[in-house]
Amino acid sequence: MKIKVTSGSIAKAKADAVIVPIFEGINPLPAELEKIDKSLNGALSKLIKQGAIKGKAGEVNIIYPAGKIPAARLAVVGFGKKNKLTAKIVADGIAESLRTLRRQKVASVYVAGQLLAGKNLAAEPLAQAVTEGSLLGLYEFLQYKTKKENPGAIKQLQIGGHRASLLALGKGIETGQIISQAVNQTRDMVNEPSNFMTPTKMAELAAEVASANNLEITVLESAQITEMKMGGLLGVARGSEEPSKFIVMKYSWRDTDDIDIALVGKGITFDSGGISIKPSNGMEEMKGDMAGAASVISAIGAIARLKLACNVMAVAPVTENMPSGHALKPGDVIYAMNGKSVEIISTDAEGRLILADALCYAVNRKAKRIVDVATLTGACLIALGKATSGLMGNNQKLINQIVSASQQTGEPTWQMPMTPEFAEQIKSPVADIKNVGNRYGGTITAAKFLEEFVGNTHWAHLDIAGPSDTDQTKGCLVKGGTGIPVRTLVQLVRSLFGAA
Ligand code: BES
Ligand code: ZN
Ligand code: ZN
Repeated sequence: MKIKVTSGSIAKAKADAVIVPIFEGINPLPAELEKIDKSLNGALSKLIKQGAIKGKAGEVNIIYPAGKIPAARLAVVGFGKKNKLTAKIVADGIAESLRTLRRQKVASVYVAGQLLAGKNLAAEPLAQAVTEGSLLGLYEFLQYKTKKENPGAIKQLQIGGHRASLLALGKGIETGQIISQAVNQTRDMVNEPSNFMTPTKMAELAAEVASANNLEITVLESAQITEMKMGGLLGVARGSEEPSKFIVMKYSWRDTDDIDIALVGKGITFDSGGISIKPSNGMEEMKGDMAGAASVISAIGAIARLKLACNVMAVAPVTENMPSGHALKPGDVIYAMNGKSVEIISTDAEGRLILADALCYAVNRKAKRIVDVATLTGACLIALGKATSGLMGNNQKLINQIVSASQQTGEPTWQMPMTPEFAEQIKSPVADIKNVGNRYGGTITAAKFLEEFVGNTHWAHLDIAGPSDTDQTKGCLVKGGTGIPVRTLVQLVRSLFGAA
């Protein structure tokens, strides 16, 4: 989809459909809408008076101007109260309305950005939100449909704005495109079935991201993983026929070995549970257990394209978790890369084992801070539901920075308490620690386990077991992989280091 900026009168916009925003309780209409209303013989104001159009967020009404303005459709989209407008409300409203217009086989759309930009959202973040709403909301995964139905396609989007804001709008579009591409790439990886999205395939995709963005990349193969004594990753990989990979990517804004932030992602391309096998009901969802790895691989690509002024490393340990005669068994003991011994209670608590090595690796490379992202615990779904990521760590400042980034992107996070009782739970009678605690607070136990491998490095952990996929198409989200928390990771790095 081509996205561009235009100035000029909304009433004269040349597109199959024009999207105009309407806010709750705004009376009279802004002058530009008054003008359109007049050409439509008061059709718009009549619908508002009748209460058919209220301006509530999520509301989409289509009016057919029948030649009275050049566009064949006027989409009147509600964005709630004007003083409560956020980037998320804009993006969600644009996503909903564009899906409606696509169903009607509309090919070109004009969005009246001049009526959305204002005190709450300046031109640049507004254009970014509109762009993200379009590219994320219209996302589809049709890879394995052999009969392509014609879902329609919106080929062109114009964002209208005042002449003085065109440059800012253009910048916002560019940022929105870079970020949406990273989110949609993550969605693709999550939606791909595990027989295609193997560790080898993930390493290939990471190499593509690296070469497209001039990043350093190293992919450690089994032999090197053994040499590095990554016992967690080796242990989990043992049951699988697919070779495991340890992917390291680096974006250097300064030509130094410094790493301002390491992004670490869990990459289990299929989590059967291993010998502690999962119930078969719903097991297909475990093809998405690599969402953390996909997020950090895509996010570092976007960070590079945005030319953010920092050095960033992405680390993704990637393997399947399968049962077999070679597989890790409950009661086994492994040694993580830092030499800590771990008693395996459940082979289904595998994410923390591969992350242990990845965290050690980031610490050894002297990363100044680490953020890890993982579909780590079912308990997080019980605690926080489908939409919210669990947030924990050893440094409150970093946690606060993540909370604030997630509020800006509208990807909710919620901090959970790292109280000492949970460290008690992972004491083992045979090894230094064990990989499972008791039934309660499993999300925090998992984070406490990870904390054992970060030393004094500032570290935060996002448990995305809930938000990494969704069963509902709503706003920017489309059924399947969500690409959460790519936007938050990029926003975090933007807010920490800014553009060059
Ligand atoms: N990948 C799962 C966590 C998960 C569950 C993600 C549901 C998304 C949706 C993880 O590897 C796992 O199996 N965790 C166990 C840990 C338990 C054995 C301590 C869990 O949550 O049951
Ligand atoms: Zn598991
Ligand atoms: Zn898992």
